[in-house]
Order: sequence, then C-alpha cells, then structure tokens
Amino acid sequence: MARMCGIVGYVGSQSALDVVVEGLARLEYRGYDSAGTAVSADGKLTVTKRAGKLANLREALAGTLPPGGADDSPGEDGTPGRSGIGHTRWATHGAPNDRNAHPHTDCTGAVAVVHNGIIENFATLRLELERRGHDLSSDTDTEAVAHLLEEELAKGVGLADAMRRVCVRLDGAFTLVAVYSGEPDLVVGARRNSPLVVGVGEGENFLASDVSAFIAHTRDAIELGQDQVVELRPTGVRVTEFDGTPAAVTEYHVDWDVSAAEKGGHDYFMLKEIAEQPTAVADTLLGRIGADGRLSLDEMRLTDDELRDIDKIIIVACGTAYHAGMIAKYAIEHWTQLPCEVELASEFRYRDPILTRSTLVIAISQSGETMDTLMAVRHAREQRASVLGICNVNGSTIPRECDGVLYTHAGPEIAVASTKAFLTQLVAVYLIALYLAQVRGTKWGDEVFAMVQLLGTMPQKVEQVLETIEPVRELARSLAGERCVLFLGRHVGFPVALEGALKLKELAYMHAEGFAAGELKHGPIALIEQGLPVVVIVPSRARPILHDKIVSNIQEIRARGARTIVIAEEGDEAVVPYADTLIRVPAVPTLLQPLVATVPLQVFACELATAKGHDVDQPRNLAKSVTVE
Ligand code: AGP
Repeated sequence: MARMCGIVGYVGSQSALDVVVEGLARLEYRGYDSAGTAVSADGKLTVTKRAGKLANLREALAGTLPPGGADDSPGEDGTPGRSGIGHTRWATHGAPNDRNAHPHTDCTGAVAVVHNGIIENFATLRLELERRGHDLSSDTDTEAVAHLLEEELAKGVGLADAMRRVCVRLDGAFTLVAVYSGEPDLVVGARRNSPLVVGVGEGENFLASDVSAFIAHTRDAIELGQDQVVELRPTGVRVTEFDGTPAAVTEYHVDWDVSAAEKGGHDYFMLKEIAEQPTAVADTLLGRIGADGRLSLDEMRLTDDELRDIDKIIIVACGTAYHAGMIAKYAIEHWTQLPCEVELASEFRYRDPILTRSTLVIAISQSGETMDTLMAVRHAREQRASVLGICNVNGSTIPRECDGVLYTHAGPEIAVASTKAFLTQLVAVYLIALYLAQVRGTKWGDEVFAMVQLLGTMPQKVEQVLETIEPVRELARSLAGERCVLFLGRHVGFPVALEGALKLKELAYMHAEGFAAGELKHGPIALIEQGLPVVVIVPSRARPILHDKIVSNIQEIRARGARTIVIAEEGDEAVVPYADTLIRVPAVPTLLQPLVATVPLQVFACELATAKGHDVDQPRNLAKSVTVE
C-alpha cells in the first residue's frame, strides 16, 4: 500500500462502527479506491469491505445490520461492538476490488488487520505461510500479516505480543492496526516509517493515519515513534518498542481545524505534496531493489526476452509527465544505447509514428485517465507495439490498457499542479532504464548496483533541499510583480527548465518560458532586457563541457541586464560571480539532478502564486485530469 491509505482504530464506550466509519469519512480527502471495517463484538469479528467509495461500504454495512438499525453489529445481548478498525485503500499491490480491500483476516476470521505502506518481503512470507497450509485469497502484501498474527496467537500470546513478534519479521514501510475477537477491548497498532497517531479520550482511545479522523472526539494526541507498538484499551494507552520495552510517550494538543489537518498543517495540498516528496521517492524505490542490489520489476509483466527484443522506445505523455519523459530519454539512451523518442501524446498518433513489434511505447501519466495519452496508447497497441504504463493510480484506465505497468507510489496527488508525482515518475523511468540496461547487459551488474545505491540516497537529498528552501520563498515573494520569468537549462536541465516554466504558468498565470540554453543565441536572447528574471539550472560539474557552456550563457544574459537566478550544486564556485541569486542543491550525478533541481522551482511557483493571492490547489481553467482530447 502507499503511505496515503487511511486508517482508523477505536476502543471505548461508543459504537465502534459509527466512530470508525465517521473517521474514514474524514480521511476521504486522501483519495482511495476501496474501504472496509472490522468490529469486535461478543467473541466475533464482523468484517465488511467494498471497492469504490465509502457509500458502497455504508450500503454494505446497512445490509449486514439488523433491519432499521443504523447501529453497528450487535453482540448476542445487542450491545454494539466497542472496538473496531477501518481502512480506505489507495491500491499499490493488487487491483482495487472487494477481495483486496482491507481489513484482511486470518484463516479463522478471529483477527483482522489493516495496513498502510509497503511490506517488501511479503512474497517470501506468503510462500512460507502457504507451505504451512494457510490459504491467502487476496493479492495484497497485507494479508500475510493477518496469518502471521494467527500463528503467534495460536502459541497462546495476546494480540499485542503477537504484533510485536510479527513486526520484527517485516521489511519495508508499514503501519498496521489489528483487532482480535479474543480481546474485544483491545486495538493494537504498529508503526515503521508510515504515519500513525493516537487520539487520547476519556474512557476511549483512537488510532489514525492523521488527526483529522478523530479531532471531532479529542484533540489530545500521541505521535508514535519508529518501530513502536501501541496497545489501545478504554482504560488507557500503552506504547512499547518492538522488543516489548516500554516507550516514553509525549502527548500534544492538536489545534488544527479539520481543513488544516487534512493538509497536514500546510495551507495547501500542493505544499503538503511538495513536502511528501522524500517519502514518495523512497516509496517508489521500495520493494524493487533486491538484497543483492539487482532490480526486480516483475510487476511490469514484460519478460526479459521481450525487453531484449526492443529496438526503439517512444515515450508519450502530456504536461509535466512529458517533461519526465524528456528526462527519461537521456537516461535510457545513456544506460541502454536504445534510441528513445519523446512525443507529446496529443501529437503522437497524428504524425504517423513508425512502430513495429520491436518498439516499446512508454506512457507516463499520474492520473491514468488523460485522454490524449490514452488515445496514444490505443494507437500504439493497434500498431502492435508493446506498451508500458508508468502511472500513479492503481487500476485506472491507462494501466488497464497497457501490456505492463510500473506504478509510482506517490500516493494520491490532490493539487492540480503535479509535484510529487513528477519526482516519482523520474524514479520510475530511472528504474526502467537501469532494468533495461541490466537485462540487455549494456551496463555491468556493479554499474547498475552503484547507480541504484545512488538512487537510494535521493530521498535524503530531496529532504535537504526542502530544509534550506526558505530563501526561495523570499525570492518568489520579491518577484510577485514581475510580468515574465525565463528558465534556462542544458541536457536534463532543459526539461527541468520547461517544468519550472509550466509550474509558473499554471499557478501564477504569468508568462514563463523554458529554453535549452544553447538556443539563446538563435533568437530568445533578444528577449533579455534590464532586470528580467532568468532562472538557470546549472548542470553538475561532473559534465564540464555542459557546465562551462552554461556559465558562459549566464554571463551573456547578465551582460544584457538579466537578473540571474542560478540553481547550482554545492561547491560550484564558478557561477558565484554571475549569480544575482544563488540557490544551492546537493551535488548528485548528472542524470539524477532533476530530482533535486526541480524542487526549488516547484516552491518558487507555489510561493509566487500565493503572493499573488491565487488558489494554488485549484488554478483557474485547469483540471487535475484532462479526460478530453
Ligand atoms: C502538471 O502540473 C499539470 N497538472 C498537467 O500538465 C499534467 O501533468 C498533465 O495533464 C498530465 O496529466 P497525467 O500525468 O495525469 O496524465
């Protein structure tokens, strides 16, 4: 699961089902494609789950409840269940359907679990469980946890100890919350790398992915730390480390309103999603790099032989996704020696592209519903090309019509302007290019391993950019009155320049244009006038020929009066004399630089648009997914 699934747990004197379903409704903003609940009452669990929106779940719940009862599943004496869990799923492993919806249960139906994150070693665990006779019915990584809990409970321990024992066997990022019919006054949660917060009430307690699920009941909260298990009872909350050692907890008071809580305290979803980029990049890498450093992308459903038979790649996409495709071209051609074309999806099928059975078309789309890209996919398949989708929404139209798909794990992207989806699209294309190099032998195993290791450091590099981003915000506010901003870049910096210009256009409604810096002298330099802001993305010094030429470009425009805003790697002193404003990013390999160089441009556009009083999440004239041609 991606990190954006919604989780709710409750134990107390209210109807657990009511509290949980209401909490899930508060988490709907996170985006999801299925939902479910499990309530413990009188020695049994009642599990209800449905694909689609909460309305489907509510309908199903009404169906399983006594006639006329909007109440929850009563015990024998009619008392409603006092402990329960709920989940809204943003699918990554397994299609969004009833079977894969959470909660998942064990063989006996006595324990139910919901999950947020990605369990990297679930395939191995699943195999072991099936060998021990367990019957797993879903395609999810989560279901294995329910059966592992079953095995521990069968040894006579309680749910809390069972959870602690299971957690130490899991690799990856996960938040788990479980209920057990044998302990009706207990909900147990566990956290590693995925968010989980406790709501502390009077005679009742809550668990959730974020506070918006329970601030209607209590604003006293406890943030769980890494590798911790929490035991929720009506009488209180107990937190331990995975090894059972009691953990110190810090209570805090939540003073956000619901809207702020949904945005994680940010003013806009876009700001929240920019801040989520380190996690989104890390999640998109999770589960795809083996212990030996080799890539495993079986989910692409294209065999190694099919990948070896490819003699040309064409990437089709729109907008920001197109810019990701432009960057992909540099990586694919450099690592695989395969010719790679990048085409605007809306142009692709009208130019009579040359497609054969040995052509691989890669369609990049965050939403998976962009009609231009979908029509390009259909055209490519009619021409018998293989089509691979890179998409962020599990089960959307484009992946369903591709031969294979590699999902990004950015979680729902709600702001219209794409940010975290873009960075995860870059990670996906790097992984595909490296996998092609690995399969086709154009890169030695150790070279692929080395680059994969560097990719693994990128979440922290992106975090580093975000930690030092305040000067970019100040700069943006100072430019709010400008009419136009130009963006220059070379090599992979050129698509970054285009992306920076697009962000400014769609958010600040300003004229902005990105250029290949080498093109300046062929016309655009006539645009340079006194005080015109020009953002220049400087390539890594690892490519001196590129670096030195762009330093010359900066001198040329500065000599003509431009206000130079230079994005350059740490330690690059050559640019200092020519930069009116210098924005530092971590030094990373040339091909990976877009992962760090794009972030200042996202924040720049967002802050400048905010300074102009625009609605950053819903810019005028734009839709999140353009489902018309
Ligand atoms: C980017 O900020 C825009 N929202 C837009 O260009 C978007 O990238 C484009 O419409 C493609 O959308 P998709 O990735 O969902 O196919």
